[in-house]
Amino acid sequence: MEKQEIVCYCSNVTKEQILNALDQGAKTLNDIRRMTGACTKGNCKELSPRKT
Ligand code: FES
Repeated sequence: MEKQEIVCYCSNVTKEQILNALDQGAKTLNDIRRMTGACTKGNCKELSPRKT
């Protein structure tokens, strides 16, 4: 997975942003949500290219 790969399509959050949040002390999903904006929207199925 590339660092610039988007992991949250609703908020355009990259893997690198998640890793940076962890480096900056994020311990929980809620921490990551607050720090990056990931997983805070609800259009995941519509926006993700990884449809199943
Ligand atoms: S893909 Fe992250 S909130 Fe929808």
